[in-house]
Amino acid sequence: MRMYDLIVKKKRGGEMTRAELDYIVGGFTAGRIPDEQMAAFLMAVWFRDMTAQETADLTLAMVATGECADLSALPGQKIDKHSTGGVGDKTTLIVLPVVAACGGVVAKMSGRGLGHTGGTIDKLEAIPGFRVALGEAEFFAAVKRCGLAVISQSEKLAPADKKMYALRDVTGSVDSIPLIASSIMSKKLASGADCILLDVTVGSGAFMKRIPDAVRLAKAMVAIGEAAGKKMAALITDMDAPVGRAVGNALEVAEAVEVLKGGGPDDLREVSLALAANMLYLAGHGPVEACRRRAEEALTDGSAFKKLCAMAEAQGGDVSVLNDTEKLPLAACNCGVVCPEDAYITHLDAEKIGLASMALGAGREKAGDAIDMAAGITLLKKPGDFAKKGDVLAVLHTNDETRLKEAQRIFGDAVRGGDTPPPKRPLIFARVEKGKAERLADWDDILAKERGEGT
Ligand code: URA
Repeated sequence: MRMYDLIVKKKRGGEMTRAELDYIVGGFTAGRIPDEQMAAFLMAVWFRDMTAQETADLTLAMVATGECADLSALPGQKIDKHSTGGVGDKTTLIVLPVVAACGGVVAKMSGRGLGHTGGTIDKLEAIPGFRVALGEAEFFAAVKRCGLAVISQSEKLAPADKKMYALRDVTGSVDSIPLIASSIMSKKLASGADCILLDVTVGSGAFMKRIPDAVRLAKAMVAIGEAAGKKMAALITDMDAPVGRAVGNALEVAEAVEVLKGGGPDDLREVSLALAANMLYLAGHGPVEACRRRAEEALTDGSAFKKLCAMAEAQGGDVSVLNDTEKLPLAACNCGVVCPEDAYITHLDAEKIGLASMALGAGREKAGDAIDMAAGITLLKKPGDFAKKGDVLAVLHTNDETRLKEAQRIFGDAVRGGDTPPPKRPLIFARVEKGKAERLADWDDILAKERGEGT
């Protein structure tokens, strides 16, 4: 085989075989195929797309470049969850303890945040002492004892993905459905769970800005997992505005704890319950509705909160900060953003809110950057709320006062107001399983608006 011929085949719209994809992905990961040839191939995929078979084969070729976690020593069906990214998305901190409290088994590997999106590992590290780098024996012992544990994803899983993503990132080929689906699913398949629930976000803060694209991505990822013998489903959830009111690591832990104690913002509670119910359903705990009722009980009877505390304790975290969240890292500077005139909030651009939070120190521009655990934003007004002139729309938190000005500028750009409230966006648009998307809300108006605002 010659890489030149394979690039030309894809450029002309040909369907790659598994052997060809193994040659390309294995060769690139091992350094035999240079960046320029791989970049050309990835761009050819961007223009020519891939069939479901090719996308599944590409994913398996990526998995084959590294190790696969073997979770078989743990009891029962292991359940994983993955979000395609968001701002203020702390659902994992709520959903995993709920699932464990209902008898599910979660041995999860997670990533760190980058750019405007947050990462579960960073949020957990806002709990002083919490260790995310456990060896296999300690990881398994924690899962056996608590029903859940979360560690940072090993570099040894699907190493092709990191190299391919870095190249896509600098050559304009990130936003391709087969490339996103294979990138995410290669890491998920290598992580070893039996059941995977995908949270495919859509809206201004998500990779997918439009509902039909989110449904296509969800179907592609569900098909890859099913082809690999996993139990799969996906929910398409809203990420047009941040979930809940808190954005930033320690602030999000505090908000997750509020929900686990039976309170917290309604949108966050609703999405978390839907995700937990679907995870339990995939692992064979009964129909989704019955699983949802059990999940609700786990929030009201305190058993889910106890699971978060048990996980934190098993991983070295200071549980006292969960019992009293005022002990979580607190920022030295807290500055309100005031509403300039009477108006309904019509839009809060999640991506820009994520960038404002990053400007405050809560996120990283590039892998390895240090982050300020206390930095972030508390949103006091959300889309649909009415704000009077002088009302505080949000509080910006940081330990570095010099960051405030830029964050205020970005935040100002993220908020739009109007004379009438905006149409209410559903929290969950659809559910995808076995190749079918079931609508869970009416989104015709939003689709029409997406078409009207087309690029
Ligand atoms: N997240 C990933 O892991 N990969 C992508 O390509 C996009 C989002």
